[in-house]
Amino acid sequence: MISPYGEKLKSMAKQEDLFKKIIAHAKEYGFVFPSSEIYDGLSAVYDYGPNGVELKKNIRNYWWKAMVQMHENIVGVDSAIFMHPTIWKASGHVDAFSDPLIDNKDSKKRYRADVLVEDVMAKLETKINKEIAKARKRFGESFDEQQYRETNPRVNGYIQQIEEIKKRLYSAMDKEDMEAIKLLIEDLGIADPVSGSKNWTKVRQFNLMFSTQMGSTADGASQIYLRPETAQGIFVNYLNVQKTARMKIPFGIAQTGKAFRNEIVARQFIFRMREFEQMEMQFFVRPGTELEWFKNWKRERMKWHTAMGIPANRFRFHDHEKLAHYANAATDIEFEFPMGFKELEGIHSRTDFDLSAHEKFSGRKLRYFDSEINESYVPYVVETSIGLDRMFLALMSYAYTEEKLKDGSERVVMKLPPFLAPFKIAVFPLTKKDGLPEKARKIMDGLKSDFMCFYEEKDTIGKRYRRHDAIGTPYCVTVDHQTLTDNTVTIRERDSMKQERIAIDKIAGIVFERLRTK
Ligand code: GAP
Repeated sequence: MISPYGEKLKSMAKQEDLFKKIIAHAKEYGFVFPSSEIYDGLSAVYDYGPNGVELKKNIRNYWWKAMVQMHENIVGVDSAIFMHPTIWKASGHVDAFSDPLIDNKDSKKRYRADVLVEDVMAKLETKINKEIAKARKRFGESFDEQQYRETNPRVNGYIQQIEEIKKRLYSAMDKEDMEAIKLLIEDLGIADPVSGSKNWTKVRQFNLMFSTQMGSTADGASQIYLRPETAQGIFVNYLNVQKTARMKIPFGIAQTGKAFRNEIVARQFIFRMREFEQMEMQFFVRPGTELEWFKNWKRERMKWHTAMGIPANRFRFHDHEKLAHYANAATDIEFEFPMGFKELEGIHSRTDFDLSAHEKFSGRKLRYFDSEINESYVPYVVETSIGLDRMFLALMSYAYTEEKLKDGSERVVMKLPPFLAPFKIAVFPLTKKDGLPEKARKIMDGLKSDFMCFYEEKDTIGKRYRRHDAIGTPYCVTVDHQTLTDNTVTIRERDSMKQERIAIDKIAGIVFERLRTK
């Protein structure tokens, strides 16, 4: 008999195995390659291949359409990666954009000290959930979880331990007291997850911004940073945009682009990268209305995620208990990745912190005159911020499917939402002769200005179907001898594998219908 703990290990191993398969699949089918691979790679940096770049572009376009095209009061910008260094002083990144790191002297592994402590709390949380699951089974219908949490001595003990750890961790983090964090690690008896050693260095603050020099040294080069978020490019352009696009509050500014962070623990493939892309929108509102807008954007963004067709139970909100000093509300939209529920997007009510700081540091007024109330003020901001690469990984994790078919064979199919798939239609001549390639090319030429199409004549039709299942192409069109006589083709749908004989001039309509977004 396998114990519940054994079951859990088995399921963890299965998830880890799934994650490895997704990474291998991403490489084999030209979605994602390790950067600089012929030089043994560069840690936490990745390149996108021919299929990856299409999928990434489609996600970006879906986001842009939902945020900018569908909202008359949201416009876009594309600000530079390099910005005046004082911007990062004003935003707080120079002084406070850091993580506490700790090294293990024996394994030489580096960790985020706060994450080591959070892992202890997560383990206690798992213990609580197990106790509750057992009790629910025992008491059945009459089980009252709240009462059990409050009265069961073991569960109550775990809850108190978590509260105590939280109190110490948050207080140490707020005071930037690195010694207190080290003491907490020692008191909790935390060992290196790899080596089991408790031989730790001191905890140090590590700033996550990359810096470089602008200009030649003779001219007096200045230190500048690679932006760690795209948001500041929006804040510093807020008045330019408001004036030139004649925007009235409430209005938003959207931007997609690269961001850079020198992450301490960079692992889990494209989940945590050192160079990544963000899709951010800052929504400028009248002070006092920000919490209503925060609720609105929570709703809107969750709608965006579920409209892709991914089941709603793969997403959840995680409201922040501990707020950053500039926020008065914050939540994460978490997605169930193979390694569990993790942050996919952040929604933050950032008050007037950023604009006020830029007013102070730049000496320029960043106010808005609200003619409806005849008042001038620094707008409050609600931000939505999602990592494009992380969304890409969420989609790959959802879509990767291994199927056993009725005839006993197996296939891997990427069940990507069709409108996001790299290619929409693959066109195959059944054979390479008898004028079939010419006819297939003609069909492809008629479709390619509307859809990303792929032409293939190598290998059996079965193998060609499998290749396109593996990259998520929703439709394969096969041209055979009958096509030459009656202008019909077979069209095969990816998920059901159903084939239908249709007229050539019906292809575009069928595909268009399937690609329509809600
Ligand atoms: N402007 C707010 C901001 O940058 P954040 O929570 O630090 O907030 C927003 O980042 C989103 O950017 C995250 O939810 C995540 O999707 C993505 N992101 C952050 N760091 C990342 C990294 N190292 N690699 C990939 N994506 C990352």
